[in-house]
Amino acid sequence: MAPRESLSRPPGPRGHWLSGNTRAYEANRIGFLRRCHREYGDVFSFDEQTVFVRDPNLTHEALARTGQGFVTELAPFDMRRDLDQAAAQAASWMSARRAVWPGLNRSAAAATDEQTVEILDAVLADSAGREVDVLTTMRAFTARAVTEYCFGADSAAVTGPLQETTLATQPFTESSYEFPAWLPLPRHRRFFRAAGRLSDTMTGIVRQRRASSAHAPQDDLLGFLIDADPAMADDTVASTLHSILMGGHGVPAAALTSLVRELARRPRLTDSLRGEANRSVGDGTPLSAARLPLAEAVARETLRLYPPAWLMTRTAGTATTLGEWSLSPGDDVLLNPYLIQRDPRWWQRPDEFDPTRWSNGRPAPGPAYLPFGAGPRVCLGSALAMRQLTLVTSRLAQRFTITSPNSSSVALEFVGRLAPAGLRARFARSAQ
Ligand code: HEM
Repeated sequence: MAPRESLSRPPGPRGHWLSGNTRAYEANRIGFLRRCHREYGDVFSFDEQTVFVRDPNLTHEALARTGQGFVTELAPFDMRRDLDQAAAQAASWMSARRAVWPGLNRSAAAATDEQTVEILDAVLADSAGREVDVLTTMRAFTARAVTEYCFGADSAAVTGPLQETTLATQPFTESSYEFPAWLPLPRHRRFFRAAGRLSDTMTGIVRQRRASSAHAPQDDLLGFLIDADPAMADDTVASTLHSILMGGHGVPAAALTSLVRELARRPRLTDSLRGEANRSVGDGTPLSAARLPLAEAVARETLRLYPPAWLMTRTAGTATTLGEWSLSPGDDVLLNPYLIQRDPRWWQRPDEFDPTRWSNGRPAPGPAYLPFGAGPRVCLGSALAMRQLTLVTSRLAQRFTITSPNSSSVALEFVGRLAPAGLRARFARSAQ
């Protein structure tokens, strides 16, 4: 869409003459964004290259136009915005994405229910009732769950390099500053070393599996991609699984940490969840096959109040418009599910944790709920994630007593993935 002359850039705070709005934003990200919303409305400029959007329809428009006017694949740490390279990378990812989608849909995801519950039990058994850092524990769970989903019996070799890469990625996801990749910073070297090791490990497994698959086809995502038609090259299979591992690890762990905090604070809700789980499995049905509407509502409400991907970015690939505003190539548009999902214009009692609001279908207009994003780049693992969150909610309530010394005092962190970082809890196995 070509910009019309009457369109202009959104207004916004001028900020400090040297540091602009960065300091005010870093001091209190949500407070700053709420203040700007009151002053400038649903769309405002943060600086000459960055626009924040809180309107649900414009947010959906930007997400829906990914690949057509907006791009998402900027190279990590690249200050020069290589928009052509981003568009080329997006095109090859989209064909890998189409190939892997059926391996992650609802029925494929449901097939691993038993495994999800077993892994959760095993990870919590490791903590042996001791007080633990919840985010670390949930990362251990999601890392095992996603590597087993992708690599089945070969997953053990991947878990270590995956954890190392996640740790090496952390300084970048948490920082609002970007540095060019060629700067020989220790954290860059560490990141490239870790990412290289993970990639080599995965490519090795793909090659080995390809060589042996004629004899022993396996029932995991790698097996599914090896059988893809048209055939995928080994390095495409490895890089596709790399994206799934990275997407299916840190983000769900952040959501699970918020979920644990809610359960620790709500013994009555936990009792109701336990009742639902026990009723559902009373006739011998395993938890994984049970209908769990309350647990699912708790999962949805957790993602409404605490969307781990609380901020998403798109970059204008060309001179374009968004609503009544004009954008230049390279402009970043920052979209904010957290504020949209707590906006009193769309949600009643927006800050209240109330799973019953989901009892009769969707309680707000569709575009006002987007924890998994939207458009052509909507989360690939959303079916798996919803199943995982629902089962974990139910299993925790059914089998564990959760106590936390700081569930009321720990603050949400708005850096990288949104989570109550520093949350500590004890998961004591209840008598059955
Ligand atoms: C609570 C759990 C999860 C949440 C809230 C979540 C959220 C999201 C969001 C918001 C996006 C879109 C980001 C954007 O458009 O910029 C996304 C993308 C993605 N997610 Fe998830 N996710 C979750 C779990 C998972 C899991 C379990 C997997 C894999 C098994 C996964 C794999 C991916 C992948 C591969 C992408 C990139 C898709 C693309 O760019 O085409 N996610 N996720």
